Amino acid sequence: MTTRILGIESSCDETAAAVVEDGWRVRSNAIASQHDLHAEYGGVVPEIASRAHVERIIPVLRHALADAECNLDDIDAVAVGHRPGLIGALIVGVAAAKALAFTLNRPVIGVDHVHAHLYAGLLDRDPASESIDALFPALGLVVSGGHTAMYRCDAPLEVRRLGSTIDDAVGEAYDKAAMMLGLPHPGGPRIDRLAQQGDPKAHDFPVSRLDRDSLDFSFSGLKTSVLYTIRGKPTRTNNITTFERDHDDLDEPQKADIAASFQRAATRAVTLKMKRALDTMPDAKSILIGGGVSANSAIRAAIVTLGQNRGLEVRLPRMDLCMDNAAMLAGLAHHRLVNDDVDDLSLAASPMSAIT
Ligand code: KG4
Ligand code: ZN
Repeated sequence: MTTRILGIESSCDETAAAVVEDGWRVRSNAIASQHDLHAEYGGVVPEIASRAHVERIIPVLRHALADAECNLDDIDAVAVGHRPGLIGALIVGVAAAKALAFTLNRPVIGVDHVHAHLYAGLLDRDPASESIDALFPALGLVVSGGHTAMYRCDAPLEVRRLGSTIDDAVGEAYDKAAMMLGLPHPGGPRIDRLAQQGDPKAHDFPVSRLDRDSLDFSFSGLKTSVLYTIRGKPTRTNNITTFERDHDDLDEPQKADIAASFQRAATRAVTLKMKRALDTMPDAKSILIGGGVSANSAIRAAIVTLGQNRGLEVRLPRMDLCMDNAAMLAGLAHHRLVNDDVDDLSLAASPMSAIT
């Protein structure tokens, strides 16, 4: 059965819509980013995000349908990211998806956003020439601004969490390190660029290991270490903390060294836990990664090397499919639609992920 699914994404600060056929062919992938609206606050402001989604959702949907050269009548189902995320933001996409499903008399399929990130690397590759069944079981890694977790994936819809961050997400650590260096939000891509000019061994930043067998991540120690390197020793008088200096006191080569050393530590923290996870998965056939930080040059290169060393296929998503997008939701929803596993119009948004 051929399927054509319209996906809608509004969980955080991207309003996105996409049309995906048969779970892999990306006919369109429209993304309206709100980065400019949140930049001056140094992070995503939920109220501003919700309002911007309301304004942008219809233009983005029109864009996705026009790019795919199809009409609403050609759509077999509407998929929407209904969890996890900012609740006011999610509600906009869920309400739009349910209204479309109701008027078109088509099913709505609620998709877990984090689960969908794992599917991004399976898009855009024709399963007739490369069977996706041969990729499972897979070790899945989601690295984004809100999530850092690993999963055992036995099939596109069979996913179990192996471990996750106990404090900051890796993207959050990137964004905070960037802010400490005086770079605008979101700082991940800027650190990645600045790191190209620096010495990754200039600073020996900590790589959290946690317990011997732990598959969880921690980035708070790394963040604190970067803060002290940039600003010097803190002193506390009358409950006010002051530092020896600010990022303005560093020159560009010093900043580049910090960015490169931070990137090296973050990459090692991620791959260390992936190696541990793979040691527990001798049957693994591949590595699937997704989330905004899967666009990072050092993390991509390290994971390709890890895959080569372990004889595993690595599915790196296309750059525009790393960040929040609706194509990953529509692609994953295909596997539900073909099994007649759809939701009804009582579908609700939830801030929490359902994957355990
Ligand atoms: O998946 P995503 O678009 O949204 C969330 O679900 O969080 O990820 C956004 C995150 C931000 O923290 C951003 O700084 C980070 O991904 N990011 C990067 C890179 N590109 C985006 N971090 C490091 N290197 C990059 N090249
Ligand atoms: Zn995301």
